[in-house]
Amino acid sequence: MPADNKDKVTILKLRKQKQNNVKTVGVTAYDYPQALMADNAGVDWILVGDSLGMTTLGYKSTIPVTMDDMLRSARAVARGSSRAFTVGDLPYMSYQVSNEEAVRNAGDFIQAGMDAVKVEGCMVERVKAICDAGIMVMSHLGLTPHTRAKIILDQALRLQDAGCTFLLLEGMPRESAEMIATNLEIPVYGIGAGDKVDGQLVIMHDLVGLFWEFKSKFVKRYCEAGQMIQSALTEYVNEVRDLQFPSQENFYEIKDEELEKLLGQGAGWKHDK
Ligand code: KIV
Repeated sequence: MPADNKDKVTILKLRKQKQNNVKTVGVTAYDYPQALMADNAGVDWILVGDSLGMTTLGYKSTIPVTMDDMLRSARAVARGSSRAFTVGDLPYMSYQVSNEEAVRNAGDFIQAGMDAVKVEGCMVERVKAICDAGIMVMSHLGLTPHTRAKIILDQALRLQDAGCTFLLLEGMPRESAEMIATNLEIPVYGIGAGDKVDGQLVIMHDLVGLFWEFKSKFVKRYCEAGQMIQSALTEYVNEVRDLQFPSQENFYEIKDEELEKLLGQGAGWKHDK
């Protein structure tokens, strides 16, 4: 069902949704058609995540992903999404070395058409530098047991003070995530962080069945697109070998008279129809 409201999602809208207890919906996208479909479905925000290393580039982790990989995807997603708020994920070693590198790489994402960037970890100094450059930042914390909830809350509060625009919590008990979300003014979204946060993020490839390496407990499969594509390709291979494809409806044909005219009155030309 295409989104009714075509207005661009802004940070003001995302903040209002938190205040009014309206859940915010996020999904990853790495290319133009995925962005078009996400936008059309009415998601509020799209993450161009470095998870593309595994889902799209075939790496075993996100470590080999470069800024070039990310920017190519970011540009494609920006071309495909006119409504959703877009976030570019700063990959490994694009922000760790210095504030200058962090700001420059964040700026490259904005030039590629993203609305904000995501930074993993409690990188208070980097987040402040990027925010001071006028770029919105999503901080990404998590993958920790409940015993560390207080530590994460302290980190989140420091990031909020540094100017961080929103927070993404990954892989933690819903009670911890709830405690953090209710103590922060900025929107707090979750991926595998339960239902008490201000909104959800899901990796599109998990959601539609295009990633098979592993399936986390928090993933819900809404369809098996991978299986559908696999059987379509197998059918195509079989039909070409069995001479069923291409068939009449897929041919371009020339009428006999036209063909003969083209070939100079048909001298020596033989063809089957
Ligand atoms: O790259 C990504 O998709 C992410 C999510 C796992 C949060 O960072």
